[in-house]
Amino acid sequence: MTADLFAPLELRETTIPNRVMVSPMCQYSCEDRDGLATDWHLVHLGSRASGGAGVVMTEATAVEARGRISPEDLGIWSDAHTEALAPIAEFVKSQGSVPAIQLAHAGRKASKARPWDGGEPLQPDEGGWETIAPSDQPWPYENGETATAKMEQDDIEDVIDSFRAAAERADEAGFDVAEVHAAHGYLLHEFLSPVTNHRTDDYGGDYEGRSRLVREVTAAVREVWPDDKPVFVRISATDWLPDRESWTVDDSVRLADDLAAAGADLIDVSAGGNDPDPQIPYRGPGYQLPYADRITRERDSGIAVGAVGGISSPEQADALVRNGRADMAIVGREHLRDPYFSLHAAHELDRPEAAEPPIQYRRGF
Ligand SMILES: Cc1cc2nc3c(=O)[nH]c(=O)nc-3n(C[C@H](O)[C@H](O)[C@H](O)COP(=O)(O)O)c2cc1C
Repeated sequence: MTADLFAPLELRETTIPNRVMVSPMCQYSCEDRDGLATDWHLVHLGSRASGGAGVVMTEATAVEARGRISPEDLGIWSDAHTEALAPIAEFVKSQGSVPAIQLAHAGRKASKARPWDGGEPLQPDEGGWETIAPSDQPWPYENGETATAKMEQDDIEDVIDSFRAAAERADEAGFDVAEVHAAHGYLLHEFLSPVTNHRTDDYGGDYEGRSRLVREVTAAVREVWPDDKPVFVRISATDWLPDRESWTVDDSVRLADDLAAAGADLIDVSAGGNDPDPQIPYRGPGYQLPYADRITRERDSGIAVGAVGGISSPEQADALVRNGRADMAIVGREHLRDPYFSLHAAHELDRPEAAEPPIQYRRGF
């Protein structure tokens, strides 16, 4: 029998109760620009856990302060951050969901105002900072670039150490999944893609060199992450730049198996973000699904595959799992509209017993 949306997924010794994951979504809501989780994060992630999602993933959580996209992003670079995140992991778990954290470094796309403050690069007198990247080529902003420094060997080692320390803290905070963010034009994606990586050392050049950092970061996270808990990696399957030398779906198929060898258990397949002018072939429902589908079909390892992008109905999410196109449906914006997506899905798919509402809410269902 094929799995459906409400079939549990076993990864290592962790049981994910269903195949719906809340996609990581920045809330830009740390009040004092200190990276500390607030009541907003607890209520936001907590209500999606009450809503029945199998995995509830935090937003991109920066492994070091200069790795934040905006100063209001979550961070996990000190014990105070661990303490602020722990009640979130505990509450998500109390609702029967698996608490997950996305560990991130924004690279050259860091130091920006949050979207509702304009999203422009922050200058030093506005609290901005110098960003780091594989090459000293800043993101081409229209209104003033933030200076970008090329990373030296020491910086590379520091970043690996920061991811490792962040994973240790995430475990201490009670999370059961750690996801390495290697998508959307942030630091690890910048290393993967020849569009942004012009290095001539061991971390640049061919596929082997460009993929070295993400493989080493994944291995470092795996080294400290408990054996019974899964590691996910989010990638951009393509740069969507077919006319240039760029990161392609072929590279991603190969990377999925290499990440499995480095200790990853699921590849979360997104796309784009590394260039301001991508050629996106289709922007409708399931627009990134073909990439997850290809990795699912062509993987040689046992790595599980998560599909994200334009999934907004229970039927669509259920179909992708039933048709074997991916192992997990990762749902972003639909969860902003409906925190109870999974509870509603269970009813619509005629599986009400598969996702029980919180006892306090039963009279509503
Ligand atoms: C408000 C918002 C914040 C986001 N923040 C993140 C993030 O922190 N990390 C990440 O990997 N993707 C982030 N994304 C991308 C989503 O996780 C998701 O991949 C994208 O929205 C496509 O899925 P959807 O069509 O289901 O929304 C964000 C998207 C939105 C709308």
